[in-house]
Amino acid sequence: MALASDSRHGMWSSRWLFVLAAAGSAVGLGNIWKFPYITGENGGGAFVLIYLVCVALVGIPIMMSEVMMGRQGRSSPIHTMRKLTDDANRSRRWTFIGWMGVIAGFLILSYYAVIAGWALKYIWITASGTFEAATPDLASSTFNEFLTDPLQLIGFQTLFMVLTIWIVGRGVSKGLETAIRWFMPLLFVLLIVLLGYSINSGGFAQGWAFMFDLKFDQVTPETWLIAMGQAFFTLSLGMGTMMAYGAYVPQSAGIGSTVVTIALLDTAVAVSAGLAIFPIVFANGLEPGQGPGLMFVTVPLAFGQLPLGAVFGTVFFVLVSFAAITSAISLTEPALAYLVEEYNAKRQRVAISLGVMCWALGLGTVLSFNVWSDFYIVGGLTFFDFVDYVSQNVMLPLGGLLIALFAVWALPHAVREKQLGLKPGALNVSWKLVGGVIAPVGVLLVFIYSVLPVLRSLYENVVALMG
Ligand code: TRP
Repeated sequence: MALASDSRHGMWSSRWLFVLAAAGSAVGLGNIWKFPYITGENGGGAFVLIYLVCVALVGIPIMMSEVMMGRQGRSSPIHTMRKLTDDANRSRRWTFIGWMGVIAGFLILSYYAVIAGWALKYIWITASGTFEAATPDLASSTFNEFLTDPLQLIGFQTLFMVLTIWIVGRGVSKGLETAIRWFMPLLFVLLIVLLGYSINSGGFAQGWAFMFDLKFDQVTPETWLIAMGQAFFTLSLGMGTMMAYGAYVPQSAGIGSTVVTIALLDTAVAVSAGLAIFPIVFANGLEPGQGPGLMFVTVPLAFGQLPLGAVFGTVFFVLVSFAAITSAISLTEPALAYLVEEYNAKRQRVAISLGVMCWALGLGTVLSFNVWSDFYIVGGLTFFDFVDYVSQNVMLPLGGLLIALFAVWALPHAVREKQLGLKPGALNVSWKLVGGVIAPVGVLLVFIYSVLPVLRSLYENVVALMG
């Protein structure tokens, strides 16, 4: 019999499954292509150090807040916020956090599925030997031709969405947990295999130096903001994903140590991904490119030059796909749980409707790479850039800021004591200082930093228009 304090959607069967589920959400495209690249470009080891400080001072307190609020509310972020505000006699306006999260998750998934679809396609073409002894031209034209073919892009986007919706529709225990139990251990094994391969590729020392040399001369104030933004996205914070997952955490699990474990796992995967990618890139005398180019042009090209490259290249794209799917399922949970609760609807049906809408929105991203590539929503942003910008740079930081403020300053102390075991005293004071002051100020800086240039360009456009 379910306890009254359990979630109606089901519960993680242990603390360890929650760790894997949250790590599954956290580990995604952000770790495998973004982290290695921005680390290399922003001071290597110096960036890694700064990033770790951001994870500790901003990421961990916000994740603790989300999980704590979720476990207290035991429902979707929107209903959790209603319950928490009612119980604490606070304004229901805080529920905005939940609504914004639902929308942000929907927006992020719409393009995440498109990019993850590319990884699915690359499993196939890498396995069939396309890149064996390929020239750089062939590698980049393969990618570019793929991008100009909307029907193919839609095909792989659809495949990824169907897989995601099928998993989430089966529910927390049968769907999410089963996928996580299989994919996460496999992901770790594949990563270790790739690491072994890269250590023996002949470029390891150079790859290591690229990632870890302490290039403090490359550190600017901007480096801090990039590191903070990365810490935020990679830990899946700011949109209620961790709140939704927190609702299924058994009461006996300690939140602090669990959250630290998740953050460490996520960081370990990001660092290992860099150490798997850069050595093989350098072993072939290739340039550590950037963005999609690194993952879909340079990496396949590099594998293609090495012995058994087709096999290990395929392993790489299977790894990326697993990482993406365990993130994608977490992006749907806040909206899915809300609709099931609100309309007492069948989870499977809700999942399909949500999936179809998200898929349709994703078509805009598909077209941004071909038919609509010259169509800008505002100031040089394509449809894809715009959706990415609004969700990642506006909604996530705003959500994180409000979550930290709510958890520290609006929730009654009794909740923190029950969920985190914080008694009045030094630990509680430092939690307030870190979670209630340092983390919000940090997030606010990222927010202002990323929104200001756009506001300025909008302002300049308006001034120019008015002559
Ligand atoms: N953390 C994932 C990545 O690194 C992406 C992701 C999944 C995410 N769920 C999220 C980001 C929720 C922000 C919020 O790719």
